[in-house]
Parts: sequence; C-alpha cells; structure tokens
Amino acid sequence: MARQLNLILVGPPGAGKGTQAERLQADFGLAYISTGEMLRANVKAQTELGIAAKAHMDAGGLVPDELILAMTAARLAEDDTRDGFILDGFPRNLAQAQALEHQLQEEGRRITAALLIDVPDAEIVKRIAGRRVCIKKGHNYHVHYDPPKQVDVCDQDGSRLIQRDDDRPEVVLNRLLVYHEQTAPLVSFYDERGLLRRVDGMRAPGEVHDHIRALIATLLLEDSL
Ligand code: AP5
Repeated sequence: MARQLNLILVGPPGAGKGTQAERLQADFGLAYISTGEMLRANVKAQTELGIAAKAHMDAGGLVPDELILAMTAARLAEDDTRDGFILDGFPRNLAQAQALEHQLQEEGRRITAALLIDVPDAEIVKRIAGRRVCIKKGHNYHVHYDPPKQVDVCDQDGSRLIQRDDDRPEVVLNRLLVYHEQTAPLVSFYDERGLLRRVDGMRAPGEVHDHIRALIATLLLEDSL
C-alpha cells in the first residue's frame, strides 16, 4: 500500500505557505490544516479558544502550546487526514515538533517531508504589507504580486478582501523575531531526520509550486521503489 503523503510547510510569516498549500491541496486532495486559519475561525466565532488566543495573535506572539496541541491533536484524528495532510503553521517550535512526532509514532504514521520555503526578511515585509485575504474563506492575494481580477473582490467566492489584523508593520516585525527565535530551530530538527527539503521562495508562486510538485514526485517515486 502506498505511504501517506504527510507534508509540513515551514517558513517565515508571509513566505507563501498558505499560497502553496492551497495549490497542493488541489493537486493531491490532501487534508489542509492551517493552525492560523483555525485560530482565526475561533477568534471570529468568539469561542473560548479564540478569546484566549486573540491577544497573542494580535501581538505577533505564539499561542500557548497546550491550546495548540489540543487543537491539532483533535484535527489530526479526523478521518480526512488518513490519506495524507498538509500542515501549515504547525509545528512552530521544538515542543510542538516533538509532540507531533510522538502522536504520529503512536498512530503508526510519519512525516513524508518538511518543506522549507526560504524568503529573506526584507521581502517578507513587502509581501505582508501587500497581502489581502477574503473575509469568507481566507483566500490569499497580493496587491502587486498576485492581484485579484477586480480590486478588493475575491476571484474564488466574490467576498470582500481585507488586511489581516496581525499584518500591521509593528506586529510583522515581532512575528519575524518569533520566527527566528522559536521556529527556525525546526530546520535542524527536520534536517537531522532526513526530512528537510529546501524551496527557493523568492521565485514566482507558479515556479515555487512547480518546484514543490517535482520534489513530491521524487518522494513518491523513492517510496515506490
Ligand atoms: P499564521 O496564519 O500561520 O501566519 P504566518 O505563519 O505568519 O504565515 P502567514 O499566513 O502570514 O504567511 P504565509 O507563509 O501563509 O504566506 P502567504 O501565502 O499568505 O499564524 C498567525 C498567528 O497565529 C501567529 O502569529 C500565532 O500567533 C498564531 N499561531 C498559528 N499557528 C500557531 C502555532 N502552531 N503555535 C502557536 N501559535 C500559532 O503569502 C503572503 C503574501 O505574499 C500574499 O499576499 C501572497 O499573495 C504573496 N505571495 C505568496 N507567494 C509569493 C511569491 N512566491 N512571490 C510573491 N508574492 C507571493
């Protein structure tokens, strides 16, 4: 039986993880798990989790591990993840990576690859400043790099495009700091396990997508040999 395709997208805020996840989800029909999207849905619905998470998110810090791990463990137990999944924004520190590894080991599953989308900080600031997301499903656009057909209207569902609360410049700088301090160590963590694959995130979205698909094709081929 073919192995599950279980992917992790790693990279700084605004590197293009969500942009690529949307395309990969369409290519491979994998369950898409974005902790940022799940948290924003909870904030919008004013759940207990959303209320507890909001201040951390607005400041650009990490939401406490116990909240994140309860949320992701429950999501990974859902049936649609059985054929494979894409994790976007999780794990985000070593404690989360170890907890994920433990959970998957217990279930006889494992990560296929951790894809690092590499983008320098100066570019991140430009990307986040121009990002717009739709209010309905969070589809991503950029005012210059990936504009919608009609200004401020989502191509996919016709809803209004807005700027995220945590995309304000002062918050972005803190998100970058948190990335370098807490998330960047995951690069060595997955490299030591032979799971890290690097992707040049400075290329256009279509080229980044082609590169990732080629990497996945190689992984699937290696798996079938
Ligand atoms: P989250 O939603 O995960 O935010 P993030 O990691 O900061 O990532 P982004 O969504 O900002 O960026 P992206 O890499 O998806 O880029 P995108 O494709 O949009 O998390 C938000 C908050 O939730 C965190 O700060 C934290 O508080 C909390 N949180 C979430 N998970 C957590 C966890 N596990 N633990 C604790 N707390 C957690 O692209 C960006 C822009 O660039 C777009 O406009 C896009 O159109 C454009 N673009 C994309 N690719 C390209 C390209 N190749 N060239 C040019 N432009 C491009």
